[in-house]
Amino acid sequence: MKVFFKTYGCQMNVRDSEIMKGYLIEAGHEIVNTLKGADVVVMNTCAVREKSENKAYSLIGRLKKSGMKVGVTGCVAQITAKNLKKRGADFVLGPRALKSIVDAVEGKKEVDLSDSITEIDHDLLLGRNHGHHAWVNIIAGCDKFCTYCIVPYTRGREISRPMVEVIEEVKRLAESGHNQITFLGQNVDSYGKDLEGGASLAELLKSACGVEGIERFWFLTSYPSDISDELIETVAQHPKISRNFHLPPQSGSNSVLRRMNRRYSVEEYIELIKRIRSNVSDATIGGDIIVGFPGETDEDFEQTLSLVEEIRYIRLNVAPYSPRPGTVATRFYKDDISMQVKKERMAKLSKLQHGIMLELNEKLVGRDVEIMVEGRTKNECYGRTIDNRMVFFEGDVTEGEMVKVNVKRATAGPLYAELLEKVLKVVK
Ligand code: SAH
Ligand code: SF4
Ligand code: F3S
Repeated sequence: MKVFFKTYGCQMNVRDSEIMKGYLIEAGHEIVNTLKGADVVVMNTCAVREKSENKAYSLIGRLKKSGMKVGVTGCVAQITAKNLKKRGADFVLGPRALKSIVDAVEGKKEVDLSDSITEIDHDLLLGRNHGHHAWVNIIAGCDKFCTYCIVPYTRGREISRPMVEVIEEVKRLAESGHNQITFLGQNVDSYGKDLEGGASLAELLKSACGVEGIERFWFLTSYPSDISDELIETVAQHPKISRNFHLPPQSGSNSVLRRMNRRYSVEEYIELIKRIRSNVSDATIGGDIIVGFPGETDEDFEQTLSLVEEIRYIRLNVAPYSPRPGTVATRFYKDDISMQVKKERMAKLSKLQHGIMLELNEKLVGRDVEIMVEGRTKNECYGRTIDNRMVFFEGDVTEGEMVKVNVKRATAGPLYAELLEKVLKVVK
């Protein structure tokens, strides 16, 4: 059958779609890039905010009207399977039941919300998006239960993959020509705590750095209070590990953080960033912020602005609070900040962040930097520096090559540069 995937949400979903595509190709089905001509559409959905959930409902409505066979997978599937069936979904699979995708597409299974996460075959090279950069799951689920967040309900409890298994996967990816890897999890710095004999993200990274052929390692997302000194030291000592720490603060106010059940104070967060910067001098910090959490006063929001001003993020995702059914925040706190105020606060933060990013990027103008080429637009190539800045430049290079460029111009988004030399050619 010809199957078209529509993937929403985070990198976890992107990777899950790859895994499902792998199973389908292995079973003899074909993955197509357009809706036109597809026999089945798989919508891999995200439930993090009401808006993302609604996207799934409106697409399913449109597709069913046109008589299409539609399956829903991912986070919305896990929490509202009944509702989705009512809306006409032909099959519904939760994010831990990826293995059932073949049966579902072949009409042999309608609903699977079971937990078969440990049975997933991560080694299928089939289905991976083309290119030299591979995503590797290291830990599934989340045990943190931030009061606003649906993820622990959709993705279940934390389960780490055994370290030997992950390293084997890294080796196979290197052998098949990959040279960049991103380790994925909702809390990658919780990695290994549940494993017999223990393991840690630092240990995993150290061991992975020994695999020949992989030039860069990234890790996403970190939970601030779980970052260990060992991890910071490991990053400092290994030039192949990204200098970018994605450490979402969510708010700059202690009273909001408490109600969010984030397990650190603003002071501890700032202290952590200082520790990172004093050990990894070229570290950049990314973050996520929620504005308009119930009860967030102007003063609370001012404290968030101050935090952003102080940390100087290289990338900041800002979202308006969206109550999620079944979460603690929805049960105990009224969504009392109007959409207008949320929007005003988002605009203020965006403006502040825009200026900061421009300043941070301008510091690189005139400097030579190494970048890994990740693709090309019509006229230009693009890639990222090891501290996670996007760079565009002209030149005859291919995806997967490492090049040295001289930065000519900065914006609050990407940098623009001139190609100097190729540092590393792609072998395969
Ligand atoms: N595990 C990561 C985040 C995963 S969800 C962490 O703890 O930082 C990605 C982002 O979505 C969160 O960082 C948060 O900023 C946002 N988010 C999650 N639930 C939300 C909600 N109910 N309303 C608005 N934004 C939300
Ligand atoms: Fe959600 Fe918090 Fe877990 Fe991140 S740490 S996935 S925000 S519950
Ligand atoms: Fe969305 Fe689920 Fe990821 S809710 S952000 S797709 S873990």
